[in-house]
Amino acid sequence: MTFPIAVLASGTGSNLQALLDKVHGRDGIEIVGVASNKADTRALTRARDAGIETAVFPIGDYADREARDAVLAEWLEERGVRLVVSAGFMEILSPGFIARFRGRIVNVHPSLLPAFPGIRSIEEALDYGVKVTGVTVHFVDEGVDSGPIIMQEALELPYHRDIEGVEKRVHEIEHELLPRVVKLIAAGAVEIDGRQVRVGDGEG
Ligand code: GRF
Repeated sequence: MTFPIAVLASGTGSNLQALLDKVHGRDGIEIVGVASNKADTRALTRARDAGIETAVFPIGDYADREARDAVLAEWLEERGVRLVVSAGFMEILSPGFIARFRGRIVNVHPSLLPAFPGIRSIEEALDYGVKVTGVTVHFVDEGVDSGPIIMQEALELPYHRDIEGVEKRVHEIEHELLPRVVKLIAAGAVEIDGRQVRVGDGEG
C-alpha cells in the first residue's frame, strides 16, 4: 500500500531534505508533491533535484488566503495526498483548508510548545533565558502552532550560548523527529483523541 504525502516548504528546505533522505520511497511512503508560497526557494530546488513535482502558490496571486488555500487543497487532493507536512511553509493555513485535511496536517516547530509559538521561537527562547528548549511535531489546527502535540524532544541550553550553535542543534533534532513522526503516521501508529495523541511503536 502506498502512502502519498506532500510537503509545504518555503524556506531552505532542510526538513524536506530529511524527509527525502529518510522516508521518501520507503515503507510505501512517497512524497508526491512539494508546494511553496514563493518561487526561487531552496526547498523547491531540492524537490526538483529529487524528481518531485513542485508548485508555487503565492498569496498575492489570489483574492485572499481562502481562495489560495482552496487551489492548494485541490492540487493536493488531485495527488491523493494522505498527509500534508508543513515544514517551514511560514504561513497560517485557512480554516477551510484545515477542515478539508483535519487530522492530516502536521507541522514541525522549533520550540517546546506551547512555549514560543510563532516565527522567532529560537531567538525568543534564548532572550527569555530558558534552560531547556526543543522541537515539537504537532497536528495543525486553526490556531498558531496550537494543535495536538504528537512528539517533542528537549534540548538543554548551556549558559554560554551562541544562537547559531543552538539553531544547528534544533535543526538536527527536527531532522530526526519529523521523519520519525511521518513514518509512525504512515504505519497507522498515531491516534488523535481530542488534545491527546497516542503514539504506538509502528510495529502494528
Ligand atoms: C524549521 O526550523 C521549522 O521548525 C520551522 O521552519 C524551519 C524550516 O527550516 N517551522 P527548513 O526550511 O526546513 O530548513
